[in-house]
Amino acid sequence: MATPPLQSETGPLAAPAHVAIIMDGNGRWAARRGLPRVEGHRRGVEAVRRAVRSAIELGVRYLTIYSFSSENWRRPPAEVADLMGLLKLFVRRDLTELHRSNVRVRIIGDREGLSPDIAGLLDEAEERTLGNSGLTLVVAFNYGGRQEILRAVRTLAEAVADGRMRPADIGIDAIAGALDTTGIPDPDLVIRTSGEQRLSNFLTWQTAYAEYVIAPEFWPDFDHACFRAALDEYHRRDRRFGGLSGKAG
Ligand code: IPE
Ligand code: IPE
Ligand code: MG
Repeated sequence: MATPPLQSETGPLAAPAHVAIIMDGNGRWAARRGLPRVEGHRRGVEAVRRAVRSAIELGVRYLTIYSFSSENWRRPPAEVADLMGLLKLFVRRDLTELHRSNVRVRIIGDREGLSPDIAGLLDEAEERTLGNSGLTLVVAFNYGGRQEILRAVRTLAEAVADGRMRPADIGIDAIAGALDTTGIPDPDLVIRTSGEQRLSNFLTWQTAYAEYVIAPEFWPDFDHACFRAALDEYHRRDRRFGGLSGKAG
């Protein structure tokens, strides 16, 4: 079935400003084909390239991708090494193209504990694209929502201990500003692929009012039509933010 255009009677609907994706199902994609899990991760990188192009085409301003969670260290060392290798390859191969496409790269997650070569590549990706004004690609790497909040709380506690802040100065904005995502609007839409219905420690603070779309496809199969379908689903939602419906009278 053809997807209807994102149009309303009053003109084109604005795309969600920020789409965040939990890219899940690489391992199952590979297992279904009798392939090693790493093959699923390799194909997953291709799906990332596609998703970046789709986001630009669909007018999304911020795209966050969950690439490696704080808990993914629990996987066998060989798989962790494969995932680290793929990240390095992605940055080395794709940074020039991303830069050419005016994409700004931001990295969120804990930089401590990463090998110096990876930390260096992540810094390079951010620094080289700092002045770009197109899509912001936020890569969540070694990221956990609780760990991010914990680091923010420590930063604020230190500011209070040093006398730079009073406890009463700590409000929603101060907390949001101490998170890795400072300056990035909260996600409007969270997509999780592979049918799993959980957040897995992703953007714990920022997703308080996000809409969720669970896509049945494994991440390597997630293509432009799937992205478009998720946005269509988002446009059918009625976001109320605790107030009354903006749609019904
Ligand atoms: C997502 O695919 C990639 C990462 C978590 C890094 P998985 O590796 O989780 O694939 P499944 O869930 O085992 O199929
Ligand atoms: C979430 O997927 C993490 C990433 C996509 C990077 P997982 O596959 O690690 O999540 P769980 O373990 O199934 O909750
Ligand atoms: Mg998984």
